[in-house]
Amino acid sequence: MLHDPNRVYVFDTTLRDGEQVPGCQLTTPEKIEIARELETLGVDIIEAGFPVSSPGDFQSVVEISKAVSAPTVCALTRANKGDIDSAIEALKYAKHPRIHTGIGSSDQHIKHKFNSTREEILERAVDAVKYAKKAVEDIEFYAEDAGRADVVFLAQMVEAVIAAGATVVNIPDTNGYCLPDQYGAKIKFLKENVKNIDKAIISVHCHNDLGLATANSIAGLQNGARQVEGTINGIGERAGNTSIEEVVMVLKTHAALGLYTNVNSKNFYEMSRMVSSQMRMPVQPNKAIVGANAFAHSSGIHQDGFLKNRENYEIIKPEDVGFPSASIVLTARSGRHALKFHLERLGYKLDKDELYEAYQRFLTLADSKLDINDDDLQSLIADKLVKN
Ligand code: KIV
Ligand code: ZN
Repeated sequence: MLHDPNRVYVFDTTLRDGEQVPGCQLTTPEKIEIARELETLGVDIIEAGFPVSSPGDFQSVVEISKAVSAPTVCALTRANKGDIDSAIEALKYAKHPRIHTGIGSSDQHIKHKFNSTREEILERAVDAVKYAKKAVEDIEFYAEDAGRADVVFLAQMVEAVIAAGATVVNIPDTNGYCLPDQYGAKIKFLKENVKNIDKAIISVHCHNDLGLATANSIAGLQNGARQVEGTINGIGERAGNTSIEEVVMVLKTHAALGLYTNVNSKNFYEMSRMVSSQMRMPVQPNKAIVGANAFAHSSGIHQDGFLKNRENYEIIKPEDVGFPSASIVLTARSGRHALKFHLERLGYKLDKDELYEAYQRFLTLADSKLDINDDDLQSLIADKLVKN
């Protein structure tokens, strides 16, 4: 298949890696609702679950396959026939099915998880891909813990699974171990050394244990990967997965990278709130792109600069991610310019001296109250009117 070399495919695993978070389990109807919203968002692939893991997860993959039509629906398996059979069965209604199979690739996993050898693991990887390929054309292979794997062995594994029929090769930094330059170099090595690498898409799947998931994913894309895996709000095992909204906005903000996705970023805010409430997982207020404070300006210096020209302190327009609006928050660190802005919004026009006085009263109040709202401002002005 011919691919636009600048197009990045977005693979959402909110319903699989995201749902592995303790307390975030969803019912099938909740998963269908999220899957439909992901389709509206424009993701290319929805990883709907791990069918062999439980009857509920199996059923969710069946129902999501029926509920969406544009995205590819993907099911996870380990590299064994039982898992793959279950995934084939669960995906039977999918318009565009994909099986995501794989096995450990680091010596740590090979020795201490599989009690095996590189040779045996390679054989199991190839067998799994060949077996899945008999039933489904689109096969993604994951080389688990690739972040810590020996790159020469990893290249051997990737080459072998492409020869066996893998259409996408996923290079997960399962433990969020790599630095961006290390992860980028790994992808570059594969791009330059694996025979027939252009027959498959390289996918990046990064975890956030060191807070580097987004940076590593971008490094992978800069070095030739063209699929990125992640979740809404960055939820996922331990410290989470790459946050899809972050990667998409990095690519939009840095258009010079020349890469684009088909995701409609204007749906991010709604999508984020929906996932947060369904999964009972609050979004941290300072979360990039979708956190409550992502567009809140609070200190006097920033507020003054922002009110002179938004672009002084705004690299993304809130409306581009569906955020209600930027906000000028009134705190004891706010300046006169911000107070004037809010008073004018409420219909009060004060001259210079009146504003100076109001600001002194405002500071006294703000030192004793964390959040100054419109009612506080009204009474601040009303008190003065009464005193006058
Ligand atoms: O992090 C990981 O390695 C995974 C694989 C199952 C793709 O989630
Ligand atoms: Zn993962």
